[in-house]
Amino acid sequence: MNQHAAPAPIPFIDVAAQRRRLGRAVDEAVARVTAHCQFVMGPEVAALEADLAKFCGAKHAISCASGTDALTLVLMAKGVGPGDAVLVPAFTYAATAEAVALVGATPVFADVDQATFNVTAETLGRALAAAKKAGLKPKAAIPVDLFGLPVDHARILDFARASNLFVLDDAAQGFGGTYRGKRLGTFGLATATSFFPAKPLSCYGDGGAVFTDDDALAAVLRSLRFHGEGVDRSEHVRVGMTGRLDTIQAAILIEKMKIFPDEIEARNRVAKRYGEALGKHVTAPQVPADRTSVWAQYTIRLAAGKRDGFAATLKAEGIPTAIHYRRPMHRQPAYARFPVAEGGVPASERLADEVISLPMHAYLDAATQDRVAQAVKRAAAS
Ligand SMILES: Cc1ncc(COP(=O)(O)O)c(C=O)c1O
Repeated sequence: MNQHAAPAPIPFIDVAAQRRRLGRAVDEAVARVTAHCQFVMGPEVAALEADLAKFCGAKHAISCASGTDALTLVLMAKGVGPGDAVLVPAFTYAATAEAVALVGATPVFADVDQATFNVTAETLGRALAAAKKAGLKPKAAIPVDLFGLPVDHARILDFARASNLFVLDDAAQGFGGTYRGKRLGTFGLATATSFFPAKPLSCYGDGGAVFTDDDALAAVLRSLRFHGEGVDRSEHVRVGMTGRLDTIQAAILIEKMKIFPDEIEARNRVAKRYGEALGKHVTAPQVPADRTSVWAQYTIRLAAGKRDGFAATLKAEGIPTAIHYRRPMHRQPAYARFPVAEGGVPASERLADEVISLPMHAYLDAATQDRVAQAVKRAAAS
């Protein structure tokens, strides 16, 4: 036997484990769609929308083709366009700012709080000042519930009301999380989420949804996602897009919704174990008492300069890591031309140098997690 064999690699997200639990139900759901052949806007789409709305308490759930489309559709519906400013975090996935740029408006980058990784009323305020200084018309804020942790919605909504902005919550990573006892989906004018395979609630490809309590907005979103259709498919009352969720993806999501609450609990158990094992060794993520996270990522912070060595040590032990995000948005080539908050975004820049995410999913068993924790402690100490 080779005493020095490298330890078996573990997955960052174990999609196969969920397949083992749910594969047959999902396969049967897909087979029902291939039997009835209504691949676009089949009955599963409306059924999923009803499930999603019930789950989060929103009046309307409008499924669509991706999280990016979910954001874009709301901006289109609200007529946001050239000359308008939309406040977005500098520390987020590109899609948040991308949706703003796609409608011809200007994303203005707000800093985040380094403890929660999220924008705050204060950091959005400094971005608002920069938007006004640039001569733009501030229209909206898109806070992101980053890594699964809800932002401080009450304070952000107060700020938005006082500043005459609408709030579009980007819950692509946070859907399923709660703020003051309520699931995300009802904070602000609308909430967008993504069903990309790495997200806590995911499908087998691309998908997304918008949530809103506003009847008129919901009707416009349904029209926009289907080429701006009017009373029927032969009438086009606005310029829309091919923004629908495929029936097959809806059928898959209906099955996944059945175990989503249980998976959220499992993710929280995993996060708690990480916190207990690692809290003294690295800067572990904190969850304020009035929210729960869905742990889209378990992201720790290391002293600047330690990250590459740390990742290499873990990799040698078969433990993958990921860096979300190595570059803040204002330093991305395609976004460097857009304004940055007054006073800059120093926390976003610092986090980009310090963060690293550990394996996180609902099926991470205690023994495997112990292996990760021991390796993290060794790597952090070296
Ligand atoms: C914060 C955030 N917003 C938006 C998106 C866009 O979602 P999608 O990839 O489904 O377009 C993602 C994920 O990719 C995301 O992480």
